[in-house]
Amino acid sequence: MPKEFTVTPWKVEGEVDYNRLIKDFGTESVDEKLLQRIKKHTGELHYMLKRKIFFSHRDFSWLLDEYEKGNKFYLYTGRGPSGNTHLGHLVPWIFTKWLQDKFDAELWFQLTDDEKFMFSEKLELSETNRLAYENALDVIALGFRKGKTKIFADTDYAKTLYRQAIRVAKRLTVSTTKAVFGLTDSDSVGKHFFTSVQSVPAFLPSVLAGRNIPCLIPHAIDQDSHFRVTRDIVHKLGYYKPAAIHCVFLPPLTGPGGKMSASVAETAVYTTDAPEDVAKKIRKYAFSGGRDTIEEHRKKGGNPDIDVSYQWLRFFEEDDKKLEKIYHDYKGGKLLSGELKEILIEKLAKFLRKHQENREKARKELDKFVIKD
Ligand code: TYM
Repeated sequence: MPKEFTVTPWKVEGEVDYNRLIKDFGTESVDEKLLQRIKKHTGELHYMLKRKIFFSHRDFSWLLDEYEKGNKFYLYTGRGPSGNTHLGHLVPWIFTKWLQDKFDAELWFQLTDDEKFMFSEKLELSETNRLAYENALDVIALGFRKGKTKIFADTDYAKTLYRQAIRVAKRLTVSTTKAVFGLTDSDSVGKHFFTSVQSVPAFLPSVLAGRNIPCLIPHAIDQDSHFRVTRDIVHKLGYYKPAAIHCVFLPPLTGPGGKMSASVAETAVYTTDAPEDVAKKIRKYAFSGGRDTIEEHRKKGGNPDIDVSYQWLRFFEEDDKKLEKIYHDYKGGKLLSGELKEILIEKLAKFLRKHQENREKARKELDKFVIKD
């Protein structure tokens, strides 16, 4: 009997079986052949590709066919501003930045302040809009290129977006939003409509340029339902189906499985958390794959595959050799759980200090990235 789990854009629950998602969602796995093809263009593979953190895709091979013909693609990704950015959100963005550099691609970054207003019981639009620009600082802090990166909050770019969203909405039925998202008759028409807005950046640059431009959307697998709808409809509108590449979820601190979620503060690390507080959270909450006693741990070794500190290092320690050593030392009992936690704490403290510095600098740069109409 397969274990039950749920993955939708608004809920991730249970132990996610990623191979089953590939089957259920009808995506393709990122295999060796595709990796070698990417490497031909990038020279090296990003660690998130080597480690299969990005494990699934739609039409990436087609995208490379087009690229090899000289038909360059742009990148599209986004954030639903319901709170501060957490480390999980950074995962697709760090990878997107690498893609931007390697393929010299433009990035369109959507901040869905409308979505988070319509889907939340308590958030006002003024708040989701404010959060949108707070979240934008995290995007800029990662080093995306000025002049090649357009960031927009839906309600401040509404004139342009709305004209295209209604073209999608006209072809989107309620039976589709029920079947794809699990929405019901009791959900607001706003919720049923919303996916039309998230579809727009997947073809807007083609509308503006007056010619079809391939699009690649990097994101975690939870957002895939949106783009199943998008691909179907934009194709009917005469545009390319967007390609996509999907990552697994950074687990919550209390792991081992599931998705880090912004709604449970103890289990998430936010980009705005002070490194000392992050250290406390990790020491207190990080799920350990270690043994009950030091003696037993030394003898039998720990289990890095369920240990959240190790899992997080897979997402944030770029150095393959260092990571491998940690894996073996932990599995062999040489490295204790507490010591492993300290390695993670040090890694994140270094990362967060730099990120927070860049984030403050980004305040002055915001208007060089943000587009409004
Ligand atoms: P949101 O704000 O829920 O998530 C932003 C991005 O982070 C990914 N993500 C994660 N990745 C790894 N580990 C996690 N624990 C984790 N949690 C979230 C999400 O998949 C997403 O890529 N509706 C969207 C905003 C949006 C969007 C887009 C996202 C608009 N257009 C295009 C991706 C691509 C949302 O609420 O994302």
